[in-house]
Amino acid sequence: MLSEEERRDIEREAPNYATRKALCIDALRIVQGHRGYVSDQALQEVADYLGLPLSHVEGVATFYNLIFRHPVGARVILVCDSVSCWIMGCERLLDRLRAHLETDVGGTSPDGRYTLLTAPCLGACDFAPVLMIGETLHRDVTAETLPDLLGKGG
Ligand code: FES
Repeated sequence: MLSEEERRDIEREAPNYATRKALCIDALRIVQGHRGYVSDQALQEVADYLGLPLSHVEGVATFYNLIFRHPVGARVILVCDSVSCWIMGCERLLDRLRAHLETDVGGTSPDGRYTLLTAPCLGACDFAPVLMIGETLHRDVTAETLPDLLGKGG
């Protein structure tokens, strides 16, 4: 069952949506904010709470790559690997991140601080290469500026 805080936060967003179905993505985002990721159990709880079929909620959770279906580190690093960022060197950034975080794409650093993921276009192609650390978008990232970004925790 969703916690009281989760239900309160979802209901705070509800007036912004015409249907419970449309509220689904925000509900998942809210639950993820409380729990760090959206487990199978959490999917069922959201489906029950919104009165939606589990298959619908699962479809939404699978479609949006910012809904994490497995435990992640304290912060998630999303490196754009679409064409503009690829041309501008996202592979070099990924190599640096793999070495610095001691994990591969899809993994979490041994200290649990960061999970490293790739993502399709983050919508800032003019500033490639681009990555997100947590909720913050970083543009024109270079191998030289990367340690500073990580030092600040995003
Ligand atoms: S291709 Fe990377 S932000 Fe668009």
